[in-house]
Amino acid sequence: MSHKSTIKRITAPDIAARKGTEPIVVLTSYHAQTAALVDPHVDILMVGDSLGMVIHGMETTVPVPLDLMITHAQAVVRGSERALVVVDMPFGSYEESPTVAFRSAARIMKETGCGAVKLEGGVQMAETIAYLTARGIPVMGHIGMTPQAVNQLGGFAARGRRRVEWTRFEQDARAVAEAGAFSMVIEAVAEALAARITQDVPIPTIGIGASPECDGQVLVLEDMLGLAPRVPKFVKEYAELRTAVEGAVKAYARDVRARAFPAKEHTYSTLEEVPEALKKFNITAE
Ligand code: KIV
Repeated sequence: MSHKSTIKRITAPDIAARKGTEPIVVLTSYHAQTAALVDPHVDILMVGDSLGMVIHGMETTVPVPLDLMITHAQAVVRGSERALVVVDMPFGSYEESPTVAFRSAARIMKETGCGAVKLEGGVQMAETIAYLTARGIPVMGHIGMTPQAVNQLGGFAARGRRRVEWTRFEQDARAVAEAGAFSMVIEAVAEALAARITQDVPIPTIGIGASPECDGQVLVLEDMLGLAPRVPKFVKEYAELRTAVEGAVKAYARDVRARAFPAKEHTYSTLEEVPEALKKFNITAE
């Protein structure tokens, strides 16, 4: 007998239909527990390749392997039931050709049960986006500052702060939309550029450091919870969990050292009387 939830998951077409209506709420999620907490409050759970930096201590997202994305995405799908789960295609898993991209995306979809994939790049990725979307894979684009290109860009600085750069990003946005993406992330670009792109394309734009002009917003969960040691300018910390975690860990260490934890209420008793003599091992030397 099936124990399927009666809650219907949000789909990629549902998100596409939200263009110009109420703002789309997106947060990253990398594990089942946080997915369960976040799921009722967001439209999209994004399994971003930022997990390489946030969870695994990598310097950039470039080394993130496809298998790692799949493992985390499986946890997020298991932990959630309502939000659309979108999984990042990591660097090296899609750029070579549309067929390579299809194989990687198909693995992600089949092995995780997610609802869509995301990939970085504009004009140069349009053919790949069209190939995937024509074969049943909903794709979210990602333009502006594209972290997987950090080695070529020379850093994570905001883009489009000078008007001479705009045409390129506008062409990227148009190409992604025309290729059939259901939405696109715009990362770290000037507000005026984000506004122009959002007005220009028929699909929802999801901003991260791209101003309130976008159709939706995404943040890295650990950043907005105040767990990260440093955050970019565009992050608002809605909690200060660093201090809370440190305080809890210090108190635990103090309690263990003082034998104050575990207390009676954390300890199992036997279900019958145990004679005093049996309570301790009396190891006697021969
Ligand atoms: O990797 C990531 O977390 C992302 C989103 C925040 C857009 O790409």
